[in-house]
Amino acid sequence: MSQSNPILHPRKGIHNLEKYEETYEQFKWDSVHPHFSWFKTDKVNMAYECIDRHVEDGYGEKEALVYINGTTKESLTFSELKRRTDEWAHLLKSQGVKKGDRVFTFLPKNQEGYIAILAVIKVGAIVGPLFEAFMEDAIYDRMYDCEASVLLTNAELLERVPVDKLPELHSIYITDDLDHPIAQSIPRLLKETSFEGEAVQWVGLNDGMIIHYTSGSTGKPKGVLHAHRVMIQQFQTGKWVLDLREDDVYWCTAHPGWVTGSSYGIFAPWLNRTTVVVHGGRFKADEWFQAIEDTGVTVWYSAPTAFRLLMNDTDKIKNFNLSSLRHILSVGEPLNPEVITWGLDAFNIRIHDTWWMTETGAQLIVNLPTAAIKPGSMGRALPGITAGIIDLEGNEVKRGEFGLLAIKKGWPSMMKEIWKNEEKYQSYFINDWYVSGDLARMDEEGYVFFQGRNDDMINSSGERIGPFEVESKLIEHPAVVEAGVIGKPDPLRGEIVKAFIVLTDAYTESEELLKDIQTFVRFKLAAHAMPREIEVLEELPKTPISGKILRRILKAQEIEKLEQGDRYHVPL
Ligand code: WT7
Repeated sequence: MSQSNPILHPRKGIHNLEKYEETYEQFKWDSVHPHFSWFKTDKVNMAYECIDRHVEDGYGEKEALVYINGTTKESLTFSELKRRTDEWAHLLKSQGVKKGDRVFTFLPKNQEGYIAILAVIKVGAIVGPLFEAFMEDAIYDRMYDCEASVLLTNAELLERVPVDKLPELHSIYITDDLDHPIAQSIPRLLKETSFEGEAVQWVGLNDGMIIHYTSGSTGKPKGVLHAHRVMIQQFQTGKWVLDLREDDVYWCTAHPGWVTGSSYGIFAPWLNRTTVVVHGGRFKADEWFQAIEDTGVTVWYSAPTAFRLLMNDTDKIKNFNLSSLRHILSVGEPLNPEVITWGLDAFNIRIHDTWWMTETGAQLIVNLPTAAIKPGSMGRALPGITAGIIDLEGNEVKRGEFGLLAIKKGWPSMMKEIWKNEEKYQSYFINDWYVSGDLARMDEEGYVFFQGRNDDMINSSGERIGPFEVESKLIEHPAVVEAGVIGKPDPLRGEIVKAFIVLTDAYTESEELLKDIQTFVRFKLAAHAMPREIEVLEELPKTPISGKILRRILKAQEIEKLEQGDRYHVPL
C-alpha cells in the first residue's frame, strides 16, 4: 500500500486519543477513576453515571435519546430520561424489587425498552435484556436458568413467554395501558406510585448489573454476568474508540438484547453524555439512510452484514444527505477489505473494525481514528490491554504465527461470572490468559488478523449461534432422529446455519417437510437460528467410541463442495 492511501492513513483532525504508542506505554486504568462521581462519593450506580449526574452537572436540557421509526421522531432530554427512569425505579422498588434480583426486559427498540433497562439497574437489580425476536424456547432457557422473578414487557411480546414453565417468575409488568389477566400495567401503576425518596440504590463496583446469554459450541446458552465496573472501560472506549465528543449524535444499530446494544448502545455513549439515536423497526437500506439524514448521525457503529446489505443499495445513497457522518465503526464478524473500500467510496470515511466479545464487556482490539488501518486486521490492543497469540499451554507463539487469541486477565470490563457455572467460567483461562476461542495472528506492529473460531460456534450476520441449541431443537421435530449443525460460509452473512439431519423411518424427504422443520426452529427458538439450508443424510459422521457427531467433518465437506463448485468466495 502506498503512503498516501487513506485506508492506512487517517484523516487529520482533533481526536480524543492522538498518540497510541505513547498512551499504550503509560496508561493505567486507575487514571480513569477520577472521572466518575463514585471516586469522590463512594456511591456506585451505572444508571446514575449515565443519566443523573449529567442533569446535576447542568446538562438536563441536552438531548439524550432520539427515537426514530419511519416518520415518527421523538426525543428525550437527560432530565426527562432521569424523571422517567426514576419513576420506573420507584415503581419497581414499591413492588419489592431488590438489589441482586433478576429482572428481565422483553421490549422493542423504543424509549420504554431503554428506560426499562436503566430503571432496573437504578434499583440495583440485575437486568436481563431479551432480544425482541426471541421465541418461546429461547426465552425459557434464559429466564429459567437465571431464575428471573420479574419481567417487563408488553402484551404482544408476553404471548411468547412460557409463563407456566417459569416457577420463579412472580411479577409481570406491561407497558400497555390495559387490563391483563396475568400482568400489571406500568402506566396504571405509575399513577399510584409514590415518587418520594431516592430512586437510586447504591451498589458496589463488583455487584452484578446486566446478564447476556451467549452461545458456545456445546450446551445451552450461558449467562454472562457483568458488574457495574464495566463502566470504566465502556466510558474510556466510548471516548477513545468511538471518539465521542460534546456535539456528537451517535447511532449503534444493535438491539440491547445483545451486548453491543447495551455496552455501546446505552452505556458507553451515555457515560460520555452523548445523544443516542434509537431506530425502531427492521433493516431497510432506505430507512437507515433516512435515519442518518433525519437525526444527523455523526458517529455510527454497525456490523459487516449490515454494511454488505447497504452495499447492495449503494445507488440509493445519492438520494440522501449523509454529510453529518464523521466516524464509522464495525463489530461482530470479519470486516472484509471490500467493505472498507466501499465505505471510502460511499462516505469518504474509513470503517474502523473493533473486536471484543460478550464476555469481555467492552472493546479490546481496536482501530483508532488516529491510527493506520490494515485492511483485514481487527486492529491493535487498546491501551490498558495486553493481547497475545498463544498455544494450548499458554505460551506466546512467534509473531506472525497463528494461535489462540488471548487477553491478559485484569481489564475492568471482564465478566464477573458465568451464571451458576464456575466450571465454565474457569474454562476460559489458561494461566493468566483469558482465551477467546478465536484463532488469529499478530504482526510485528501488533495488528491482529482474525482467522476463525477454535470451536463449532456459528457467526451468522454477527450473531453468535450455538450449534447444540439448534440441534436440540431439530431433534424435537417428529421427523428428525439426528442433527448436526454447522456454519456454512456465505458471502453476505459471513456464515449461514446449515443443518444435516437423519429422518425417522416414518418420513421421507420433501420440500414441504424441510420447510416445516425450518418453521419449527424459527417459531420455537428464533428466526436467526433457523437453518437456511437443510440436507438429509443417511447417517452422520461420528466419533468411533463416544458416538459424538463430528461437525468438523460436515463443515470440511461443505467447504470442499463450495470450493469445487467455485460458486462463492469462501471468506475463511
Ligand atoms: C465473537 C464474539 C461483542 C461484539 C459482538 C459479538 C466474533 C467479534 C469480530 C471482528 C471478526 C469478530 C469473534 C468473537 N467477532 N468481533 N471484529 N472480527 N470476528 O459478540 O456475540 O459475544 O461474539 O464474535 O468470533 O469471539 P459475541
